[in-house]
Amino acid sequence: MTDGLTIGDLASRTGLAVSAIRFYETHDIVKPLRNKGGHRRYGRADIRRLSFVMAAQKLGFSLSEIAPHLRGLPDHKAPSKADWARISKKFRTNIDARIAGLEELREKLDGCIGCGCLSLETCALYNPADIKGKEGPGPRNLHAITS
Ligand code: FES
Repeated sequence: MTDGLTIGDLASRTGLAVSAIRFYETHDIVKPLRNKGGHRRYGRADIRRLSFVMAAQKLGFSLSEIAPHLRGLPDHKAPSKADWARISKKFRTNIDARIAGLEELREKLDGCIGCGCLSLETCALYNPADIKGKEGPGPRNLHAITS
């Protein structure tokens, strides 16, 4: 690759700081090639890859959740519509699960608003499904703090 985008071009096109692009590079989100002068040059597909990361982060996904999806895509050409559809389907499943979890939490919250007891025995928000009871008897939280 003799032409291509400089990191400044890529920053300008994505709105990301150069340091952020370098960070993503260390996580193999973008993989620049070298031109004849040995300088890094990015492809136009890298704009899409970074845009995808930014959009996915807005949806609440961490970089460690996003990166594996990008590893399956071609490095130096634009992913196909089918590639994006496959990733989108996986993200949708995750988002649906999160929405279901939040809806369940919201229902439990309705019972707690105005109560405030935060009972280990009965509060579904503070101790859902008696998680602390399953860890065993005694001051479990204090043990974690002091050890
Ligand atoms: S705060 Fe009382 S039941 Fe949750």
